[in-house]
Amino acid sequence: MRLVFVHSYKGGSGKTSIAIHLSQTLSTTQKVLLIEADFLMPSFKNIFHEVNPELYFNDYLNGAAPLKDCIYNQSPQLDILFASDTFNPSDRIHSYDRSWFLKIRNRFRSDISNLRYDLIIFDMTPGLQLFALSMMTLSDYLLIILRADYQSFFGTQKLVKNFYSRVVPKIGTKVLAVINQVPDVEEMDSLIEEWQTIYQNSLASPITFVRVNYDKELAYNAARQLVTYIPPDVDQQLVEFFNNGTQTNLE
Ligand SMILES: Nc1ncnc2c1ncn2[C@@H]1O[C@H](COP(=O)(O)OP(=O)(O)OP(=O)(O)O)[C@@H](O)[C@H]1O
Ligand SMILES: [Mg+2]
Repeated sequence: MRLVFVHSYKGGSGKTSIAIHLSQTLSTTQKVLLIEADFLMPSFKNIFHEVNPELYFNDYLNGAAPLKDCIYNQSPQLDILFASDTFNPSDRIHSYDRSWFLKIRNRFRSDISNLRYDLIIFDMTPGLQLFALSMMTLSDYLLIILRADYQSFFGTQKLVKNFYSRVVPKIGTKVLAVINQVPDVEEMDSLIEEWQTIYQNSLASPITFVRVNYDKELAYNAARQLVTYIPPDVDQQLVEFFNNGTQTNLE
């Protein structure tokens, strides 16, 4: 069992699109659980609208239901755990109780290992949350999604320095930075190369980079409530990252 966290500094970078795409692609060969861990702005119910969840990740976290009862099957090897789209201030997930977050991490680790998944993919809330701080210490893979803009790049760099470099040094955590929604402009190449060098100096272990261009068809599909795709060359690099953990380059 391997745990993947899809995270970002800013919202709207493409976490949900990439988490869903990856879970669909990788579930053709492995048993995958996709977890919506965005408790502030959940979106899975609008995307997987054919599923009508009655129990949510929130119910498990609050101790109201066992983990397996909150999981819904989406396709032969893909299961989904939804976050509730009703903001409930009494949910423990909205508290600042550090010890509860640590307790829930340990309970989750033990409960999930009984369910025999090959891959667990978390679609996270952007930014720093106690949930992220505690759960991401369990990560085998970390996907940082950032848009190819200056604010997003330098914000993410701060996140790498102040957060990931403390939480992630667990031996063997593989880090992939996906630079998403890149405008198809030639000058972007040298800018991205520069950013890549800065990142490599921010974390002790190497980061793999993947670039995804802004894709009009993907954006149009999203407007029509269709699950998105990633261009085949990028997809291959992502699948290789999970299957072999091999390094890929931007070139
Ligand atoms: N490569 C891309 N090209 C074009 N549009 C994209 C691309 N990646 C994502 N999008 C679009 O950008 C929007 C935001 O994507 P998404 O919801 O996946 O981001 P997110 O990081 O999960 O956002 P949030 O932080 O709000 O949860 C969506 O409309 C999505 O279809
Ligand atoms: Mg999202």
